Amino acid sequence: MAPVIEGDNLYLRKLVVSDLNRTWEWLHRRDIYSKIGVQVPFTKEQQFRWFGKLQNDDTKIVCAICRNIDQIHIGNVSLDMIDLRHRNARLSIFIANPAARGQGYGSEALTLQEQYAFFKLKLHKIWCKTDAGHPEVLHFYERLGYLQEGLLREHEVKDGQFVDKVILAKFEIAKVLERKSQESNSNASF
Ligand SMILES: CC(C)(COP(=O)(O)OP(=O)(O)OC[C@H]1O[C@@H](n2cnc3c(N)ncnc32)[C@H](O)[C@@H]1OP(=O)(O)O)[C@@H](O)C(=O)NCCC(=O)NCCS
Repeated sequence: MAPVIEGDNLYLRKLVVSDLNRTWEWLHRRDIYSKIGVQVPFTKEQQFRWFGKLQNDDTKIVCAICRNIDQIHIGNVSLDMIDLRHRNARLSIFIANPAARGQGYGSEALTLQEQYAFFKLKLHKIWCKTDAGHPEVLHFYERLGYLQEGLLREHEVKDGQFVDKVILAKFEIAKVLERKSQESNSNASF
């Protein structure tokens, strides 16, 4: 399958049916579902139906993060709630193997997804929602230029407890936009 957004060490491509089994396994791991806020359990059949709907849903794009060196699929990054009128979308990301974290893959994948969001979709803003109690995740986003927009107190229930959620967001940068737009026209095509 042709890469669609290429970086130095990774590329992003759209999720395909053959990724579903491994994605199902990943999303049922506590270190992942508890961070990205996905509701588990769900069956493989339910996931298959979700994937079918995804093909005709312009408000969501789910990408496989793959390594250039061996094409191995190492995690997912997605945009959902894509709102072209207000030019914003919500972001979510995970690197599946804990041993592969902390090596720059998450940062590179997020940067590639931002290029698609800002330069292809022409979004103005991307945002995400994460637990206030995960400072390492807040740090991950903040070092990539995401700013905290607000705190939603006791907004969700996790393990029977209300937890605070932080909204983080990043805006397009107009000058970079012009330059990158020309580059991305040549290599990004979901
Ligand atoms: C958060 C996550 C996507 C970051 O990807 P990554 O490849 O580990 O991140 P990078 O190597 O590009 O960047 C590492 C930075 O993120 C921080 N970080 C956050 N979570 C980390 C983790 N589990 N392991 C290592 N570094 C982590 C580090 O502090 C580091 O910052 P520093 O270089 O200033 O010390 C990844 O750790 C992950 O998938 N975690 C589980 C799911 C998750 O939390 N998703 C985000 C939900 S909102």
